Amino acid sequence: MRNKLYNLKLLFLVNLVYSHGVVGYNPVVIIHGVLTGSDSMSNISKRIQEMHPGTEIYSIPRYAGWSSLEPMWRQIEEIGEDIMAIGAAFPGGINLLGYSQGGLIARAILQRFPEHNVRNFISLSSPQAGQYGTKFLHLFFPDLVCETVYELFYSKIGQHTSVGNYWNDPFHQELYFQYSEFLPLVNGEKKLVNGTQYKDGLTKLKKLVLIGGPDDGVITPWQSSQFGYFGDNTTILDMRNRSIYETDAIGLKTLDKLKKIITHTVPGIPHSMWHENQTVTDLYIIPYLD
Ligand SMILES: *[C@@H]1O[C@H](CO)[C@@H](O)[C@H](O)[C@H]1NC(C)=O
Ligand SMILES: *[C@@H]1O[C@H](CO)[C@@H](O)[C@H](O)[C@H]1NC(C)=O
Ligand SMILES: *[C@@H]1O[C@H](CO)[C@@H](O)[C@H](O)[C@H]1NC(C)=O
Ligand SMILES: *[C@@H]1O[C@H](CO)[C@@H](O)[C@H](O)[C@H]1NC(C)=O
Ligand SMILES: *[C@@H]1O[C@H](CO)[C@@H](O)[C@H](O)[C@H]1NC(C)=O
Repeated sequence: MRNKLYNLKLLFLVNLVYSHGVVGYNPVVIIHGVLTGSDSMSNISKRIQEMHPGTEIYSIPRYAGWSSLEPMWRQIEEIGEDIMAIGAAFPGGINLLGYSQGGLIARAILQRFPEHNVRNFISLSSPQAGQYGTKFLHLFFPDLVCETVYELFYSKIGQHTSVGNYWNDPFHQELYFQYSEFLPLVNGEKKLVNGTQYKDGLTKLKKLVLIGGPDDGVITPWQSSQFGYFGDNTTILDMRNRSIYETDAIGLKTLDKLKKIITHTVPGIPHSMWHENQTVTDLYIIPYLD
C-alpha cells in the first residue's frame, strides 16, 4: 500500500517536472523551403537532437516539391492545422522554425492562428518583406524576366502561385496592392474590410529570431529576411525605418521595444546552405530553442 502511494507520488512529480519543462526541451516544428521536402531539413533536426537530446521534432512533409508552389493561404491553412494539433499535444508550448518560403508560411500561420502556443519562432532566410530578384525567380520560372513578371504575378492567375503571392515589385507597387492576395495583408500594408489585424499572434512570441545575410544570393534584397525592403527610391530600408515598423502594423515595434526581436546577419552563407551549415544551427538556432 505504502509502496503504491509512493509510486503514485513519484509519477505525479515526474509529470509535474515534464509539464513545466524542467526536464527536456519543448518540441520543435520545422517547415521546409520551396521545391524540397522535410528530408532537406534533416541536418538541422539531427543536430538539434544531438545537442538537446530528447527533443521531439516534427518536420512538416506537406507541400513538398512542385506542390510548394501552391498558393500561400492554402498551405497556411493546412500546415497551420498541423501546428495547432501538435501544440495541443504539448500544453507547455512548442518552437517553430521555417526555412526560406517555409519561414514566411510559418510567420503567417502565427498571425492566422493567434491562439497558437508557439514560444520562439526562427525565420531562416525567409522573404518576410517580399521578393524581387532574378535568381529566385529562375529557380522555378527560368524563362521569365524579373522586370516584366509582374504582368503575370499581379493577375488572378499569377496569384495561384506562392511566389506570385509574395512577389513585391518596387516599381509596380500600385498593382501589388491591387492584386496581391497575401503579402500586403500579412504585412499590414492593406487593411482588411472586416478589421482583422494580424498582430496578436506575433506579439505573444517570446522571441522572434530573424536570420539572413548579404551573401544569400537568392533572397533579394537579402534584408527581406529581416523585414527590410526597397524604399520608394529603391534604396534599401531597414525594418526599423519602414512603415510596417513605424505604424506597428503587425506588432514588430511592440516586440522590438520588449527586446524580443533578435536579428542575426551572417556573411558567407549562400541561400542553399543556411539549413546545411552546422555552425549556423549551433550559433543562431539552437540557443533559442527552449
Ligand atoms: C548534411 O551535412 C552533410 C555534411 O555534414 C552534407 O554532406 C549533407 O549534404 C547535408 N545535408 C543533408 C540534407 O543531409
Ligand atoms: C476577416 O477576413 C479574413 C480574410 O478574408 C479572414 O481570414 C478572417 O477570418 C476574417 N475575420 C473575421 C472576424 O471575420
Ligand atoms: C532615398 O530614400 C531614403 C529614405 O526615404 C532617403 O534617406 C534617401 O536620401 C533617398 N535617396 C535618394 C538618392 O533620394
Ligand atoms: C534608419 O534609421 C536610423 C535611425 O533609426 C537612421 O540613423 C538611418 O539614417 C535611417 N536610414 C535610412 C536609410 O533611412
Ligand atoms: C559555415 O558557416 C561558417 C560561417 O558562419 C563558415 O565559416 C563555414 O565555412 C561554413 N561551413 C561550410 C561547410 O560552408
